[in-house]
Amino acid sequence: MNRTRCDHTPAWGQLHAAFEATGRAFDVRSAFAADPARFEAFSQSAPHVFADLSKNRIDAATEQLLLELARQSGLAEHRDAMFAGQTINTTEGRQVMHWLLRNPPLALMQQARQALQNVAPELAAVHATLAAMLSFAEQVRADDGITDVVNIGIGGSDLGPQMAVLALDAWVIPGKRVHFVSNVDGHELAAVLRRVKPHSTLFLIASKTFTTIETMTNAHSAKAWFEAQGGTDIARHFAALTTNVAAANAFGISTTFGFWDWVGGRYSVWSAIGLPLAIAIGAHGFRQFLAGAHDMDEHFRSAPLARNLPVRLGLLDVWYRNFHGFTSRSVAPYHSDLKRYPAYLQQLEMESNGKRVDASGVALPFATAPVVWGEPGTNGQHAYFQMLHQGTDVVPVEFVAVKTPRHHLSGHHELLLANAVAQAQALMLGQSDQGGHKHFTGNRPSTFLLLDDLSPTSLGALIALQEHRVFVSGSLWGINSFDQWGVELGKLLAKDVAQRLSSGDVNALDASSAGLIARLRR
Ligand code: F6P
Repeated sequence: MNRTRCDHTPAWGQLHAAFEATGRAFDVRSAFAADPARFEAFSQSAPHVFADLSKNRIDAATEQLLLELARQSGLAEHRDAMFAGQTINTTEGRQVMHWLLRNPPLALMQQARQALQNVAPELAAVHATLAAMLSFAEQVRADDGITDVVNIGIGGSDLGPQMAVLALDAWVIPGKRVHFVSNVDGHELAAVLRRVKPHSTLFLIASKTFTTIETMTNAHSAKAWFEAQGGTDIARHFAALTTNVAAANAFGISTTFGFWDWVGGRYSVWSAIGLPLAIAIGAHGFRQFLAGAHDMDEHFRSAPLARNLPVRLGLLDVWYRNFHGFTSRSVAPYHSDLKRYPAYLQQLEMESNGKRVDASGVALPFATAPVVWGEPGTNGQHAYFQMLHQGTDVVPVEFVAVKTPRHHLSGHHELLLANAVAQAQALMLGQSDQGGHKHFTGNRPSTFLLLDDLSPTSLGALIALQEHRVFVSGSLWGINSFDQWGVELGKLLAKDVAQRLSSGDVNALDASSAGLIARLRR
């Protein structure tokens, strides 16, 4: 596979020259004035998602150069290597195949059967596990004795299923409550345990590794609580979602749904980790969620780079981060059910691309992942949009809006959509007829993603779109987007500090940590 780091390509230098010549001073308003077809040129449909990129600081020449950068970096080859099941997660020696989790069985594929021959055994295993998991989900849905499902997991074993269950609230089966416990902070588990009864609760212990300290601590406490309340039937009330079935069995859980080391934690909502979602929306809904994502996979795999939405978004990310120097991206979902979508994207982007060395371990001379943050609109407007409009930093905003609501309250949705469009407009147009405190510079970039409906299918497509755009920038940056060594040091030190907190031994510690430990023990 030919993979060349972006800064080692001729296009990189040309982009720097283009940035100095026209990019730095680029004004979106003048670009619209000069080109009546700008909206058409910089918007496109992808499966289940329409994207308007026209309010971004980009012109056709720059986009051509960015596409050239992608070609020279070997983006298409890298993408194809992922879809061919090659070991592209080199630092962990793993394939990267979350996409396979949403691939139809080989027998149903019209095309690309040949390309999938390499991974046919894995695809068969995916469908066998999916069938077992969905049949369990249906069993739980039909079981009136189970009213509460408590998912215990953290990071990818929490954010994906939680985001999706909340997003698809309109599809959730009545009579079942789904709770999520992630934090080792006992307040969170205790609050859920106060609200549930052991005989009517199903605990799902979700952990890829089945070693994560927070999840194991919560799982032990949940089991102890269950037994202390007289619960005995662990097989009925506990299930494990993990690649480490042996550890789950050793914990005492016999109902297990597995997945594989080629599914990264933050890419695992499509696997057994999605069981809470499957219980909430049913087997049919879960299959639609997978199908929407698969449609986006096919688009990413086969659309020409110039009309490939994950590619266009990822290239824009590189343009903003490495040329304009923008340090963050704000995510503004104009749908209150997408309340955990920003948190989900934080892990997806920042754990994937928050890296300072390339895949071979060499320090990078340029910036990588931006800070990703946000809140649903219109709430964000009354909190931090002041900074977006008039602050000293330019922050590109990525709006998500949904055309059709799933409620019948008159007037609300029109107002919501009007606000989304108006905010993007205000960011771009600004206001210069009044000076001083009332001056808005404008020319603040935004992207507008539009879904017809917030459904399992469109949510699947939206999430797969985000996964692939993160792949694109990570690929150009030459990093391994699929490891996460940066979380290990803190885990190691927490073990040491936990021992010191109980023993009081602060020997050889830095003075600040020693001082804090002493105060905490006082
Ligand atoms: O600590 C980071 C991390 O490894 C994430 O990548 C992962 O999603 C999360 O912890 C949870 O891990 P597990 O599913 O193995 O408990």
